[in-house]
Amino acid sequence: MQDAQPKTTYLKDYRVPDYLVDSTDLCFELEPKATLVKSRLKIRRNPEAEEGIPPLLLDGIDLELLSIAIDGTMLSPADYQELPQGLSIIVEKPDFLLEIHNRINPEDNTSLEGLYLSNGMYCTQCEAEGFRKITFYPDRPDVMSKFTTTIVAPIDHPVLLSNGNEVDRGYIEDGRQFVTWEDPFAKPAYLFALVAGDLQHVDDTFTTSSGREVKLQIFTEAKNIGKCDHAMRSLKSAMHWDEEVYGREYDLDIFMVVAVDHFNMGAMENKGLNIFNSACVLASPETATDSAFQRIESIVGHEYFHNWSGNRVTCRDWFQLSLKEGFTVFRDAEFSADLNSRAVKRIEDVTLLRTNQFAEDAGPMAHPIRPDSYMEISNFYTLTVYEKGAEVVRMIHTLLGADGFRKGSDLYFERHDGCAVTCEDFIVAMEDANQVDLTQFRRWYSQAGTPVLDVTDQFDESTGVYRFVIRQSCPPIPEQKDKLPFHIPLTVGLLDSTGSDIALDKAGSTQLVLEITESEQMFEFNGLNEKPLPSLLRSFSAPVKVRYDYSLEQLLFLMSHDSDTFNRWDASQRLAFKAMNLLQGAYQEGLTLKLSPELILAYRNILLDKELDPALVAEIMLLPSEHSIAEESVSIDAEAIVAARAFARKSLSCALIDELKERYAELDIERPYSPNAKDIAERRLKNICLEYLCITESADALDLAQRQFDSAGNMTDRAAALSALINYGNDQYAEQAIHQFYDRWKEDTQVTELWLAQQACSAKRGTLNNIKALMQHPAFELKNPNKVRAVIGGFANRNFQQFHKNDGSGFEFVADQVIALDKLNPQIASRVVIPITRWKKYQGDLADKMKAALLRVSNSGELSKDVYEVVSKSLMN
Ligand code: PHE
Ligand code: ZN
Repeated sequence: MQDAQPKTTYLKDYRVPDYLVDSTDLCFELEPKATLVKSRLKIRRNPEAEEGIPPLLLDGIDLELLSIAIDGTMLSPADYQELPQGLSIIVEKPDFLLEIHNRINPEDNTSLEGLYLSNGMYCTQCEAEGFRKITFYPDRPDVMSKFTTTIVAPIDHPVLLSNGNEVDRGYIEDGRQFVTWEDPFAKPAYLFALVAGDLQHVDDTFTTSSGREVKLQIFTEAKNIGKCDHAMRSLKSAMHWDEEVYGREYDLDIFMVVAVDHFNMGAMENKGLNIFNSACVLASPETATDSAFQRIESIVGHEYFHNWSGNRVTCRDWFQLSLKEGFTVFRDAEFSADLNSRAVKRIEDVTLLRTNQFAEDAGPMAHPIRPDSYMEISNFYTLTVYEKGAEVVRMIHTLLGADGFRKGSDLYFERHDGCAVTCEDFIVAMEDANQVDLTQFRRWYSQAGTPVLDVTDQFDESTGVYRFVIRQSCPPIPEQKDKLPFHIPLTVGLLDSTGSDIALDKAGSTQLVLEITESEQMFEFNGLNEKPLPSLLRSFSAPVKVRYDYSLEQLLFLMSHDSDTFNRWDASQRLAFKAMNLLQGAYQEGLTLKLSPELILAYRNILLDKELDPALVAEIMLLPSEHSIAEESVSIDAEAIVAARAFARKSLSCALIDELKERYAELDIERPYSPNAKDIAERRLKNICLEYLCITESADALDLAQRQFDSAGNMTDRAAALSALINYGNDQYAEQAIHQFYDRWKEDTQVTELWLAQQACSAKRGTLNNIKALMQHPAFELKNPNKVRAVIGGFANRNFQQFHKNDGSGFEFVADQVIALDKLNPQIASRVVIPITRWKKYQGDLADKMKAALLRVSNSGELSKDVYEVVSKSLMN
């Protein structure tokens, strides 16, 4: 916290570290309010730094310094200086042993960064700059060191874990015990981890492709021990997949995962000791929904894959974050696609990107996947760095092909193993392994914003020549006015009038990757006998917006014929957006709303199409969310969006009531729960049918929901029924279901989070008064980020209608929460503030009210740098 403006760090100012740390030997004597940390660092002058012996600068925050010694001699206060955020020590020789003792207070650490307590269990979170809250250290990823860690704790904390292999353990006379761990791999401090508590574990093994046996362990509180199987299965699949697809084997003899209830993010890839948010690891059919099962599989994969893309090869500095995150998200997305439905995974990822990342790219915090500057690096763990970063890696994959990409990744891992490198090193490895030039492609790393492709076409009947003209542009942002053209792989196909793909070259390929490199470019196809229908950006081959003036008929045609499943869905989205636009317009003019019969017929056909994957039917029936409609708007009219979408859903539900009942009945299959793609798809479609049926608010439909609520054999079905009752049942039904559900599951943290979220997200129940009441409920805890995300995040991000109330009360509420949270957990506060930062996109009154709420945060006194950065950038110009 500070009142002076926090300082900005720039990529262009990067300098190699003055000193290196060859080994780091740590000893922790754990006490809730006074943990003693003793560190012994073998320090050496960096041969690559400039000459001389400058003072040694160490980072340190909220540490109580007890003593410093160099080569066994205690320093006196004259030999060092305590800085606001660290230490400066006078040094006389190029290498020495530095010993520091300091004290920290895990119990009062609500920032969940550094060492803290969660339900009585000690754990750490060091990425990005959390190690400096544990001890004084050069806390930067290009300082890599071999760690040895001794943990001393009372015997009521029998499980004591750190990175690497256990090398010693024993008892001390005073009744405490200790365990020593040694990590043979040099690593940056952000990958350090420590866990101590009264934990149970499930064990398994994995034999690597070279025949080494690895011990696998998942640790959790005793009550959750039955919820680890799915994570264990996912871990083994991930280990196998990385061997198959990337040729990467695990490197230690043990791999541990720990579930923690208080965690700022999803999970953390600490070397050999991954720490997970409980919600991202624990699951059982009775307590977890299908999407929780899928999220767990992908996050377990993600963290495991980091062992190579992140740990063995790490980042030189935090501007390179996408080097590990973009690449690893791409890896986990492919893992999920290989294990489940590729098309569905792609649809989900693209929906997230379009709805939230595009909004980020167009908002006040817009930044390239490799930012040029930051005040607080925690603010850059964004959808841009992660998801757009993954799309950039995917484009390299598309341009080089699977084999070329693999050659590139092999070279990258081989060349940089054990090093801290840059995004540039990644691209160079891709270039060198494939003899290609990605000079222009590099602009994806330095230019922010979502490029737009305007496509026009023309067919010359006399010559049979079909032409595309493609213009690319990218809206300016304050720091980047003139952008240079991107290198964009645009995958296209052409459909003939029967809906078949036309061969596009002599080899008979039915789709081509057009490489767009100019601001305006033309492509020609010869020998056609009729004007084809273009299918553009198949599988979403680049993170761009494509504008092409499709007619309603053409979209309907693509929806039923495109051989690219993703684009069939995409046609349905374009169609839905068109319909929503018309409805919004009518609403704004005060006209009667009407959904065209053609459109209703199209949805009817989709709903009844038994050839189509039910998952795809489900995705199409859902209609774009209010937030994605908002993202498509030039200027958001929240009320019109709510009205348009509600009207469309109501019209569809009334018009298709018999078809919905029919499909519901057909998909209501009793079977043992399994989170496989087919069952998940069928449950999803069934539950969407249930929801549509309940939109009619007919007694029949609500009975069906009640029946499913009472008799469901798994949480997916039960939660869907609960949601239907909450959103469409009369108050009595809803109340009753809410109480019953809570009584049954109140001991289960994950289910309770779901219960909170469902109420907070409900347009009907999640009114501001109810939200405030929920925050008083014993199930809520402001210090627990999951609960904050469920209630406050649910309200601000997923309850479009109540959050955007015309009186601005939703914005004021968020402002109050940001101010309160900033004192406890700045990282979480600066996430919670995001929904009120995009005021410029709103029409008139809402924009003013949102800005006023933001200003109030800005003027509320001392802010953390996290919140300061986001708020000040959002109020600029
Ligand atoms: N590195 C983690 C991941 O993406 C995310 C994370 C960042 C977790 C910062 C905690 C704190 O896998
Ligand atoms: Zn990651």
